[in-house]
Amino acid sequence: MPGMFDAFGRAALFALAPETAHGLSIAALKSGMPLCPAPRPDPRLRVSVSGIGFPNPLGMAAGYDKDGEVPDALLRLGFGFAEIGTVTPLPQPGNPKPRIFRLTGDRAVVNRLGFNNEGHAAALARMRARAGRPGVVGVNIGANKDSADRIGDYELGAARFAPLAAYLTVNVSSPNTPGLRNLQGRASLAELLARTRAARDAALEGGTRRTPIFLKIAPDLSEPELAEIAEEVTDKRIEGVIVSNTTLSRRGIADPAGAEAGGLSGRPLFSRSTAVLARMRRLLGPATALIGVGGVDSAETAIEKIRAGADLVQLYTGMIYEGPGIAARIVRGLSAHMDRHGLDSLAALRDSGLDEWAARSIE
Ligand SMILES: Cc1cc2nc3c(=O)[nH]c(=O)nc-3n(C[C@H](O)[C@H](O)[C@H](O)COP(=O)(O)O)c2cc1C
Repeated sequence: MPGMFDAFGRAALFALAPETAHGLSIAALKSGMPLCPAPRPDPRLRVSVSGIGFPNPLGMAAGYDKDGEVPDALLRLGFGFAEIGTVTPLPQPGNPKPRIFRLTGDRAVVNRLGFNNEGHAAALARMRARAGRPGVVGVNIGANKDSADRIGDYELGAARFAPLAAYLTVNVSSPNTPGLRNLQGRASLAELLARTRAARDAALEGGTRRTPIFLKIAPDLSEPELAEIAEEVTDKRIEGVIVSNTTLSRRGIADPAGAEAGGLSGRPLFSRSTAVLARMRRLLGPATALIGVGGVDSAETAIEKIRAGADLVQLYTGMIYEGPGIAARIVRGLSAHMDRHGLDSLAALRDSGLDEWAARSIE
């Protein structure tokens, strides 16, 4: 049913509470209903990052498919990869509802879900059931709110998912689990990265598999904090950084729902998250993988992330506003860009706007 969402799906979904609409969209993907035609594979869009071959650079960000229910359906929409989670060792309900708010005029969302998820066991069972299938599926790991040893929760996540995930994301940047972002501080981060890496290595020992670790950071960090994170990432030989999670800032927000507590995502996050991404590229040099996320909702915004230093790009809020056809539209737009500029690989685009983006203020 191509175009169904465009015709009346968005109006129907927007008449519902955001979390109800989200549940319905997951159910639609689960049902196998053809929601939109996938884009044609384009070899010029293939990228190899940390040893993984991606058919195109656009991924679904964490938080949409928290429990790993529909990664293959997301890939069929045209995404080059899907990141499930955040998953925590034990199931947890998250914060009281309502906890997702649309800021329609701002093309943004505020959420304070608080890592609601079914826990490791449920996601592991689903990952095991799809083991061996093609398609790049990463797993985003986190800590339980009431955990006595939060770093231990990341170790468990790395040990359990390293054999099954294409990559692991260490998420220390959700604003909705009190104290979680403190793990971005230097001493905690050093311990977290060392222990998570060791748990990953132990789980893979003796095999041929390499499962890279990507660290997902907040956009609300200062220049000195970013420099410290980059040093720890380099020192602990972490393969990549995802920039960024949602922001606590409400700068430029007009919608009254901006007053809700939680992390803001979508269009207003684009500029700051892209400027932070470029700084990270500067700090880390050309070899570390960077994934740009925050406010991507078109081929143009995806290209800007790559120009600012991203190897890969992810989105979530864009799909809430544009519907399930967004992945195919962006991928086709990337192909058209390659045509127009006579490019045969994305390598020519990466970092081409680095100076401009890294010069933008993040104060
Ligand atoms: C409703 C919602 C839930 C999210 N849950 C998670 C999560 O569980 N783990 C995570 O790392 N990021 C989570 N995110 C953050 C997104 O992965 C992404 O980093 C952020 O929304 C910025 O991208 P966007 O502007 O394209 O949405 C969530 C975002 C939204 C809107």
